[in-house]
Amino acid sequence: SPRPDLVVVGSGFFGLTVAERVATQLGKRVLVIDRRDHIGGNAYSAPEPETGIEVHVYGAHLFHTSNERVWQYVNQFTEFTNYQHKVYSIYQGQTYSLPMNLATICQYFGKSFSPAEARALVAEQAGEFDTAEAANLEEKAISLIGRPLYEAFIRGYTKKQWQTEPTDLPAAVIARLPVRYTFDNRYFNDTYEGLPKDGYTAWLQRMADHPNIEVRLDTDYFDVRDELPSDVPTVFTGPIDKYFGYEAGELGWRTLDFETEVLPIEDFQGTSVMNYADEEVPYTRIHEFRHFHPERDYPKDKTVVVREYSRFAQTGDEPYYPINTPEDRAKLERYRELAAKEAAEKRVLFGGRLGTYKYLDMHMAIGSALSMFDNRIRPFFDDGGALD
Ligand code: FDA
Repeated sequence: SPRPDLVVVGSGFFGLTVAERVATQLGKRVLVIDRRDHIGGNAYSAPEPETGIEVHVYGAHLFHTSNERVWQYVNQFTEFTNYQHKVYSIYQGQTYSLPMNLATICQYFGKSFSPAEARALVAEQAGEFDTAEAANLEEKAISLIGRPLYEAFIRGYTKKQWQTEPTDLPAAVIARLPVRYTFDNRYFNDTYEGLPKDGYTAWLQRMADHPNIEVRLDTDYFDVRDELPSDVPTVFTGPIDKYFGYEAGELGWRTLDFETEVLPIEDFQGTSVMNYADEEVPYTRIHEFRHFHPERDYPKDKTVVVREYSRFAQTGDEPYYPINTPEDRAKLERYRELAAKEAAEKRVLFGGRLGTYKYLDMHMAIGSALSMFDNRIRPFFDDGGALD
């Protein structure tokens, strides 16, 4: 194949956005490399074979944004349904509405409260600790929402997420715990929300579908980098610590394990996601994927549920959520210095969630790729010279 003008490592939303812009706006050739056997990074989805129900293979993905430019951009590749995300939680045999709202409070305390009464109740219960002086996650959470709501909706869930007692977790793990004093239980507050009408993979494939873009799957960058022209500019969206041979140490991540089951019934839980707040239940939540697309003609006699378990990632696990301890941040500082040097000397730019060690929602990954294209890649191809 002809020599590429740009190599993009990773075919997730970040890499594909860069590739699409360079191919269509600059008319340059892009080689996209991915180590997996499919396109799309963590947003990839596939029909569960027995039922045809679309399953988000790396965890449920809900698209939402208030960024006008990102919304315009993504609508070039897919239409969206009017799906609105809602989350419920089971605690001690009762089902509650999340994020914590007036319905949750009334139900939990077994009586009707006006917004002002509920606000006063939570404020009183939160008085047990001072937020500024909270010594750990538990004290911080209680200082924000009071002990009863903390014990019901946060303690067990958090313990399962972190496999750590909340009294042993730093207060900084939570910044805020939103409580709404209305009955509004829409999960996202963004202007735009929906799911891609014909699925994530069709959307991702349309981004890559251009004569200037070649996608090479099942290919690990570290196995082929020596065969690539050494002066070709590169956008790297894989793990930054791995790129530098873990020179400053491994960055910490949490991972998830998914257990998929097909059940011989039409509907298991009546909604797309149910959290399990009890400590004794080993999983954190169950997704039932048919509910993401009520408009589709899915089978009436089968449903797909996915139980989700959370734990610290070991070497070889999929990295999902950055842990971001002070040690991680110190390592990241060092990797950022190395990355700046690599950009200047070898024309390699780092982006995306693995390349920057940041949790990015899809709209953020796309938005930050568009910025990298505007501010660094287009000027490089227009004017020549350095990429940094
Ligand atoms: P992404 O991880 O998608 O892509 C990186 C690619 O690089 C991968 O395909 C990988 O195989 C490849 N790669 C890595 N190393 C390589 C190497 N050495 N050689 C070749 N290829 C290599 N967002 C949202 O908006 N709504 C949501 O509901 C969710 N839900 C959600 C759930 C879970 C569990 C997670 C972990 C994340 C979400 N997200 C989300 C976030 C979403 O997944 C995220 O925004 C995108 O994956 C970011 O795209 P990137 O391209 O940055 O990374």
